Parts: sequence; C-alpha cells; structure tokens
Amino acid sequence: MPLFLRSFVFALVAFWTLGLCPITANATEKLRIAIIGAGSHGGTLGQLLVKAGHGVMFSTRNPAELDALVKELGPLASAGTPQQAAAFGSVILFAVPYNALPQLGRDLAPQLRGKIVLDATNPAPDEGNPLSREAYANGVGETSAKYLPGTRLVRAFSAVDATAVNASARGNGDPLGVPIASNDPEALQVAAQLVRDVASEPVITGDLSTARSFQRGGVGFRANTDAPALRRLLNLPPDA
Ligand SMILES: NC(=O)c1ccc[n+]([C@@H]2O[C@H](COP(=O)([O-])OP(=O)(O)OC[C@H]3O[C@@H](n4cnc5c(N)ncnc54)[C@H](OP(=O)(O)O)[C@@H]3O)[C@@H](O)[C@H]2O)c1
Repeated sequence: MPLFLRSFVFALVAFWTLGLCPITANATEKLRIAIIGAGSHGGTLGQLLVKAGHGVMFSTRNPAELDALVKELGPLASAGTPQQAAAFGSVILFAVPYNALPQLGRDLAPQLRGKIVLDATNPAPDEGNPLSREAYANGVGETSAKYLPGTRLVRAFSAVDATAVNASARGNGDPLGVPIASNDPEALQVAAQLVRDVASEPVITGDLSTARSFQRGGVGFRANTDAPALRRLLNLPPDA
C-alpha cells in the first residue's frame, strides 16, 4: 500500500479508536454513555439506554453498590467511579443532587472537556441554598454551564419524572414530551435522538436561556405530558 494511503488509513483508524469521531444524531448509532449519579433518575435512564443498545457506565460515589444492577443488565452495562465513567462516555448524563455539580465539574474537567453533557439535575427549591439562589437568579441552564465549563451542555430529562419516562418506555399512553435546550445545535440533535431511543418525544425549546421555561417554577417543569400538550404549554409552534 502506498505510504500516503497507509498514513490516511492509520489516521482514520486512530480517529475512530480514540473516540475522536464526531458524534452524530444517527438513530442506529450506538454511543458510550456515562451516567453520573445512578439513583432513581440516572438509574432509570441508564437502564432504558442499555435496552436501546447503548453502552452505559453507571457511577456513584460507591460503584460497588451497582454490581447487581450491572449484572442484571448484561454486557452493555458497567459500573465505575465518576472519573472512570466520564472517561468512558462520549456522552455524559448528570443525575446527581445539584449541589454536587460544582465539585464534579472541577474534578471531572479533563474527562468532560469537549463532550456532550446532558444535564438532568435540578437545584433544590430551598431559597436559603446559595447555589439554588444563584441558579434561579441567573437561569439553571446558564448556571450549569458555568459549573461544567468546556462541555457541550444540553438541559435534558431534567423536567420529567423518572416514573413518567419509564411509563412512556413501557408504552403506557402517548409518548412523553421531554423538553431539551442547548446552545449547541449538534449536541441538541444527539440529545433528541437519545430521548427518542427511550421512547419519549423531544421538544426543543431553543438555546440554554429557554431552559428557564422548564426549570422549577416554569410551566414545563414536571408537566409529564405528551409532546403536543407540552408545546402548547410552552407556547411553541406545533412542530417545534
Ligand atoms: N427522580 C426523578 O424523577 C428526577 C426527575 C428529573 C430530574 N431529577 C434530578 O436528578 C437528580 C437526582 O435525583 P434522583 O431522584 O435520582 O436522586 P437519588 O435517587 O438520590 O440519586 C442521586 C444519585 O447521585 C449519586 N451522587 C450523589 N452525590 C454524588 C457525587 N458527588 N458524585 C457521584 N454521584 C453522586 C448518589 O449516589 P451516592 O450517594 O452513592 O454517591 C445517587 O446515585 C436531581 O438533581 C433531581 O432534581 C430527578
């Protein structure tokens, strides 16, 4: 094989092997997804993403406690520390208490840089909590972006209950409308595909500032309804 061709093939293989390939919103493409915080919400979403064929690493501060879950889900599932999961994932989903976000953002910065991050977290309603106060004053989307710098942040799955996502995946009623928002159009499309993969319907509200409409106190927060009804609630055109 001529040298230039060999170099080209080598570069191509390295590109894919090192995970440098652009992530696209392709329905059939299976991703490596990290779940940071595998409790009620992260655990539910991670299980559904495994069932959709994605490779999922679950993480908590005590990953050994996830052994039974991982065993039950089979070879696509694994467990690790937040560092291991963030290194593994090409897409990272946060489902931790909001107060844990600033420290995780600092600890995981090298593993998160440049990656698509789905932020499913919500600040506590407590007005006495300084981080909650900051988030409600400046917008939860903007505040998460501040604490997860250098990421391709999407607010996703934050406004829907785990039980509603699960019911939608089981085919109980109409597919659940899941509001999502980001400043990164490509990341938004990847998030939209992952919403479809768990048998819900994405409702794109716009850039991160529009995530206010579905943060706590917004009309879209925990609406747990289908996409057409959610669009009406959010004053979005029917096909947005
Ligand atoms: N539950 C829902 O239906 C729902 C819906 C929408 C959004 N959310 C949001 O999702 C987040 C989690 O809610 P949840 O109901 O799933 O709570 P949860 O059941 O208490 O789960 C929280 C998870 O985060 C882990 N965790 C806590 N601190 C951590 C840290 N510093 N590093 C890594 N993992 C950590 C916990 O495990 P360890 O303590 O063992 O580390 C646990 O697995 C919240 O922000 C909530 O607002 C929840």
